[in-house]
Amino acid sequence: MNHPKIVVTGRIPDAGLELLRSIDGSDVWAWLGDDVVPIDVRNAQLADADAAVTLLTDRVDAEFLDAAPQLRVVANVAVGYNNIDVVACHERGIIVTNTPDVLTDATADLAMGLVLMSTRRLGEGERLIRSGTGWQWGMFMMLGTGLQGRTLGIVGMGGIGRALAQRAKAFGMEIVYHNRSAADPATEARLGARLVDLDELLATSDVVSLNCPYSDATHHLIDAAALRTMRSTAHLVNTARGPIVDESALVAALQGGQIAGAALDVFENEPTVHPGLLDLDNVVLVPHLGSATVETRTAMATTAAANVVAVLAGQAPINPVDS
Ligand code: GLV
Repeated sequence: MNHPKIVVTGRIPDAGLELLRSIDGSDVWAWLGDDVVPIDVRNAQLADADAAVTLLTDRVDAEFLDAAPQLRVVANVAVGYNNIDVVACHERGIIVTNTPDVLTDATADLAMGLVLMSTRRLGEGERLIRSGTGWQWGMFMMLGTGLQGRTLGIVGMGGIGRALAQRAKAFGMEIVYHNRSAADPATEARLGARLVDLDELLATSDVVSLNCPYSDATHHLIDAAALRTMRSTAHLVNTARGPIVDESALVAALQGGQIAGAALDVFENEPTVHPGLLDLDNVVLVPHLGSATVETRTAMATTAAANVVAVLAGQAPINPVDS
């Protein structure tokens, strides 16, 4: 290919752009604004694009693909790819890639942080001090729950789920998990993890962590019925995708004391946060920071770029996504 045109729909770390620019004769166009690229600007650039590097805030749908008749690859700078119509891409012969593995540790670290924040009421404590309200150490002040001997239920035992299990085990937690397939026996033994069905996981866990992909099958997996199944002392942590949880049902469950707390990194209508959540003290809210470290974002950008390099060189992609 003589002068491959590569469209990068948002700001990515320089290392990724440099790799794309190192492709012989490449013409790299990148949106460098902090805001989301206007659709008409993006579509004009896509008209002669051979490759697109996309962010999870892009919708790669029929409109996107119609604007890009020459496209050969969409490299999403994320492990999740629910923002991409993969079937439509494949029907048009377009390869889709993602960035697994490189963000596993960062996301598992954040999930563990949220487990601690929720069970130890750290957000509430921070807000108390910032509010200027007077306070004094007290024997019964803001008591939380210890993790030792408690059960962590992990929904989705992929790389991030397993990395979270490893961290939680170091905190003395017991691990149960729900997944389409069982982890291999060596992994189960290493993590001390036991496969259970979702109802058992919800009914027996002190903390439930969502680490599964978002799809039609996991839409509102945690709905009013699932929340009723959880213990009244349990906490819910979501670092996967917002719509896995029915946010209105979660607000009702937290208001009604059906569960003790929640910590959310992702939201059903991101970046909008359900107003009911904002009013509750027993919720920790952070703005989709799972992979937000300098090292991880750099690795994600270079991984996406390496996939583009491979496809444009006529080689197999490193991280293809199946439909
Ligand atoms: C982040 O949410 C990702 O999917 O990479």
